[in-house]
Formats: sequence, structure tokens, C-alpha cells
Amino acid sequence: MEELSIKIENCTNLDELESIRVEIFGKKGILAAEFGKLKSVPPAEKKDFAKNLNDKKSALMEIFEAKKSTLESQALEQQLKSEALDVSLYGYEQTKGAIHPVKDTMDKIIDYFVSLNFAVESGPLVENDFNNFEALNLPKNHPAREMQDTFFFADKNLLRTHTSPVQVRTMLNSDIPIRMIAPGAVFRRDYDLTHTPMFHQVEGLVVDKSGVVSFANLKAILTDFLHYMFGDVEVRFRPSFFPFTEPSTEVDISCVFCDGDGCRVCSHTGWLEVLGSGVVDSNVFKAVGYENVSGYAFGIGVERFAMLLHKIPDLRTLFEGDIRLLEQFK
Ligand code: DAH
Repeated sequence: MEELSIKIENCTNLDELESIRVEIFGKKGILAAEFGKLKSVPPAEKKDFAKNLNDKKSALMEIFEAKKSTLESQALEQQLKSEALDVSLYGYEQTKGAIHPVKDTMDKIIDYFVSLNFAVESGPLVENDFNNFEALNLPKNHPAREMQDTFFFADKNLLRTHTSPVQVRTMLNSDIPIRMIAPGAVFRRDYDLTHTPMFHQVEGLVVDKSGVVSFANLKAILTDFLHYMFGDVEVRFRPSFFPFTEPSTEVDISCVFCDGDGCRVCSHTGWLEVLGSGVVDSNVFKAVGYENVSGYAFGIGVERFAMLLHKIPDLRTLFEGDIRLLEQFK
């Protein structure tokens, strides 16, 4: 009997336990065989023999039941473990990314000028006063500095307010002819429907020997560029003022929202202003030590282009990181 209880104790799974049950408690099992011996026991000993056997049976039964419930709960635990969901696991859904409309527009602009052999230049976001203002014919206390609300650092450096300082850097570091663009971020203290403190521009500059580069070239290239960007629009050059160009011109296209008929977006003028440009002022050439040269320059607001191309009404949505905006550009 001792070995039977050990056998039960050592059992490790329910199937094995079931065969042990049949072996011990079954109709043809060990206990049944023991009870069978009762017949041949002398009558006087029958009672003790039977009691003894019954006690052993109950003791074994108790061990058996205890083992059974242990193995059952182990099996249940195992099953629960194997069926468990790991809620911390990432799902398998694959989401596709999208190029941000500002980056996409910037790339499109860059592609155009690169195809015309313009070099792509860059400069630092933190600039000095000379490159951002002084060399661009904006001397200290010049009222035109007010046109650009500037973030200054304590050491008088500043966050560049436009990409024009890259013109200065390029001219200081290379000889003519120059044919360059400078895409990048710029910063101004401004925040409303059409202004954010950080935005992007693409600067353009062409310089060659005196008389080689003219306003006519500027007009031709920008007209072609605007047709490339906006398709079949009217292009208009309007006299304006920038300290670094003379003459200066702002360039308008016929409104892409109303085809020039007049609507809320174009303030019922039928025209949208899209960029600034002009013939480089001689004071700029003087500041970088150039003589007997001529050139033209232009500055493109990338967000403005992105808004017009994609009909985005509020500039700020481009920088809020709302995934629902990006999803529309897949
Ligand atoms: N720097 C000007 C701005 O941020 C844009 C600009 C206008 C750049 C005319 C130019 C230019 O190079 O010729 O408003």
C-alpha cells in the first residue's frame, strides 16, 4: 500500500493519474482483488480484514483526490497561460508614412532649380547681424528692419529672419558666376492664421559679370517656375520695396481658388502674392566686395506655396502634428 501512495504522489499528469485510478480503484484493480480475498478469510477475522482494507482504501482515495485537484489546477493554469493576451504587445497593423506637405513643396521647388543647374547652399539658423541685415543693405536703425520681427540672443546674434543671409555667405565664399538657391527654416516673432514663428523659405541668387544678368532673366525664370508649380496661372510683377534689391518686385499669380474672379482668399482682388524678388542692390555687392557684377534674387515662402497647392486654410495646422492632416497626403 505504501508504494501505491508513492505512485500516486509521483504522478505528473492527469492522463497518468487516470490509469493509476483504474489500476488501483477499478473493477479489476488492486483494491478489488484485495476485497476478493475476503471470501477466503476465516469468519472471525473478516471484520478486521475488511475494516483494515476500507481504511486503506479511504486513505488512498484521499491522497488520490488531493493529487487530482493539484494536477487539475496546474493544467488550468497552464491553459490560461497559453491563452493569455499580452495587451502590451504592439499590433501587427502596418501604417504607411507620408511626406509632410511643407517638405514635399520644398522638394518640388528645389527640383525645379536644380534642373536649371542652380547649386543648393545652406547656412546656420543662428546668424550674426552683418549677414542677416547689414550686408543686405539694412544698416542699424534702418526702419526696414521693422519689417521682420526678430528673435535676438543676448550676444546680439539672432535667429535668421530670412534665408537671404545665405546669399551673403555664398558671395563671401565664392566667385562669380553664382547660381544658387538656399532652402531652410527662418524665424520671426509672429503668430496668427498666416504666420508661425518658424517657417521655411527658398532663397535664390544669380550673379554674373556686369550686364549679363538682367531683370528680364528674372522675369522669365520666375514666370516659368510659377507655371511649373501652379499650372496655367496668370503671373504679374508688381513694383515693391526690399532693401537688398533695386528695383524690387512682388510677384502675384491669379487666384488659384477662384481663377482670378475674386474671392475671400484673394480679398476679392483675383491675385495672390507669392514671392519677393528684384535686381540685387549695388550696396549688397559693395558689402561683399564684388565689383562690376549684376544679379537678381528672389525669396519664396514655402508654407504659402504649400497652402495654395493643397488649399490649406490655416498655416498653423502645418505644424500642429495632427496625424489626420498628414494622412491626407499619402
Ligand atoms: N528676404 C525676403 C523676406 O524674407 C524675401 C526676399 C525678397 C528675398 C526679395 C529676396 C528678394 O532675395 O530679392 O521677406
